Amino acid sequence: MSAVDFKHIEERVGRIHMMQRLGIQTDHVNDQIGQGYAYINFENIGWMYKLLEIILHGTFLYKRGQRNAVDMQVTHHDIPLPHLPDAFDGYTILHLSDLHLDYKPAIYEALIKRLGDVAYDLCVITGDYRRSTFGPFEACMEIMTEVRKHIRDPVYGILGNHDFIEMLDLFETMDLPILMNETVPIERDGDVIYLAGVDDPHFYLADNLEKALADVPPEAVKILLSHSPELYQEAAYSGCDVMFSGHTHGGQVCLPGGKPVIVNARCPRTLCSGPWRFKQMTGYTSRGIGASGLDVRFNCPPELVLHRLKKVQRAE
Ligand SMILES: [Fe+2]
Repeated sequence: MSAVDFKHIEERVGRIHMMQRLGIQTDHVNDQIGQGYAYINFENIGWMYKLLEIILHGTFLYKRGQRNAVDMQVTHHDIPLPHLPDAFDGYTILHLSDLHLDYKPAIYEALIKRLGDVAYDLCVITGDYRRSTFGPFEACMEIMTEVRKHIRDPVYGILGNHDFIEMLDLFETMDLPILMNETVPIERDGDVIYLAGVDDPHFYLADNLEKALADVPPEAVKILLSHSPELYQEAAYSGCDVMFSGHTHGGQVCLPGGKPVIVNARCPRTLCSGPWRFKQMTGYTSRGIGASGLDVRFNCPPELVLHRLKKVQRAE
């Protein structure tokens, strides 16, 4: 394992943030009972997935589920915004989430193939790059370095509950800035909107919207990246116009019609997959790219989301 430059991470995110995250990483990552907003850490209950695997093999459904998991779709989603600056009318944002890259090569190979099919102005990644919630992350980061070659600039990411804070330096080396309760201006033809990103709000409770939005003009368009949609109320009441999330995989295993069996998020189910709205804020929770637990999906295909910002007349 390569040496981690903790001094650099401390300078980057602050001592308190780093110490809190490192402490929780050490205390709880391989627990089966939850921490933060997680009731149960499903990823860490190996016997449950072994049992599910046996059942799927017995019913001849496993291979079908694996085929579904690489059937990567491109979803188009329009976001109407009354106060969008003119230069951003039609601006497209590619949204990737929950890559879990070090699981099955077939999944990231399908992602790389799909990345060649899409055109966009900005790419955002809403966390969970690694398969496991603990242990080595080097293999995952090697694959991410390869995937990054197929993503056009500019690209920004955030960390999810599967990601360690020690991964930050490796993201820097692949020129993928990670927003750790930070905001960056996005400029186009003299106009500007703001992209904010928070650290994982689901397991680590490491989000800090106050810090992230401290220097953003209140009237500006603000797009927030939050790994889990569980932050929806805080985000809306902080004045965010848009929120992109993932984490739920849209359920990953759903009933016919796309109704999830389990969503693993402590918020209304309507916010756990696809487009949604809360107060003035438009949200989208991606079904994600990868799989966790088992490399299968049912009635819930993986997706790359192409969001398009649209300027609309303000309602009277
Ligand atoms: Fe997650």
